[in-house]
Amino acid sequence: MVKIKKISDFNLHSKKVLVRLDLNVPINNNKILDNTRIKASLPTLKEIIKKKGIPVIISHFGRPNGKVNKKFSLKKILKKLSKFLGKKIIFCNQCIGLEVKRILSNVKPGQVVLLENLRFHKEEVKNSSKFAKDLSKYCDIYINDAFSVSHRKHSSINKITKFIPSGMGKNMENEIHNLNKYLKKPKKPIIAIVGGSKMDSKINLINNLVTKCKYLILGGGVANTFLKSKNFDIGKSIYEKKKIKIAIKIQKKAKKNKCIVVLPLDVVVSEKNKNLDISCINKNHRILDLGKKTLDMISNIISNSKTVIWSGPIGYFEKKPYDKGTNKLANLINSKKKIISIAGGGDTIAALKKNKKIKNFSFLSTGGGAFLYWLEKFTLPGIEVLKK
Ligand code: 3PG
Ligand code: MG
Repeated sequence: MVKIKKISDFNLHSKKVLVRLDLNVPINNNKILDNTRIKASLPTLKEIIKKKGIPVIISHFGRPNGKVNKKFSLKKILKKLSKFLGKKIIFCNQCIGLEVKRILSNVKPGQVVLLENLRFHKEEVKNSSKFAKDLSKYCDIYINDAFSVSHRKHSSINKITKFIPSGMGKNMENEIHNLNKYLKKPKKPIIAIVGGSKMDSKINLINNLVTKCKYLILGGGVANTFLKSKNFDIGKSIYEKKKIKIAIKIQKKAKKNKCIVVLPLDVVVSEKNKNLDISCINKNHRILDLGKKTLDMISNIISNSKTVIWSGPIGYFEKKPYDKGTNKLANLINSKKKIISIAGGGDTIAALKKNKKIKNFSFLSTGGGAFLYWLEKFTLPGIEVLKK
């Protein structure tokens, strides 16, 4: 088997180590809602500092679509990261070019640098070689510690490995270890819960889940898209129009594979927080959480499972009382110590931690989309390119 280099395989002394992190933390009105991804980055950074290397941190933040946009500046994460690391961090408002060169030609061991959002350049998501080369120019080693972005073929994950000696960080190691441990030969029956609002990338990944699970439980925008595909009126609820066809295909595939797709029987809507049967939704309603009957049904399914995989909150958890459904499921899963339970994704972990009932979860993955992708292939494109 081809081995991936770890940090311990490199001599880091006086080396500038370009560290790809995922600092794409959930944020609301400039307030960071969950620090998991920041905390997950610390072991790698500390190790580099201990070995007298200089961490040069790169990350994306949100989806600024290739344009500079203050709303998506990594400066917003600087203070928290610096606090957790217990160190001052030099911020560079570019990620390539002369300003980076100027700062990096003056740094010494003991210092840490954070470069501005990679996605301010459209080349990043195009996996441009030139951009990758420019990124790597002033550093000696590249470490990918961004498991949760490694399903993306982007310059800072993929092409960069062509230009500079590369390896993986400690969070990446930890993710691979735990996901292998629990999910390579999972205890059956498996059920998957998929919710959240980022439907575009998720719906394709659900396609594979139906071959592995006994039940696929849907919530959030994902469920709305499936309901719409079955001609239910979902009023003003969020859904992904472009994914209706694939939602229909997935349901057919599920049937063939004897996987039961569980859609809401009832829901909580924005209007007076009413609990309504799904057939009673009209054009003015907005679905914001699963309803009581549905939650009871799901609780029953969970209680009879051996492995639960969860990606994406099932309601609008940021706003009370629409966090009730997500909290109820979290409490139930947390109380079942014998069930293997793996949850993944920035928002999912934020929701679970807010509810403080996570002690008995087997593993919380930093990856949302990446976690679902990993379930299909047991690897990620960004991990594969490190094997050389
Ligand atoms: C995530 O939040 O899932 C990762 O940071 C990847 O972000 P993306 O879906 O915008 O590529
Ligand atoms: Mg996410």
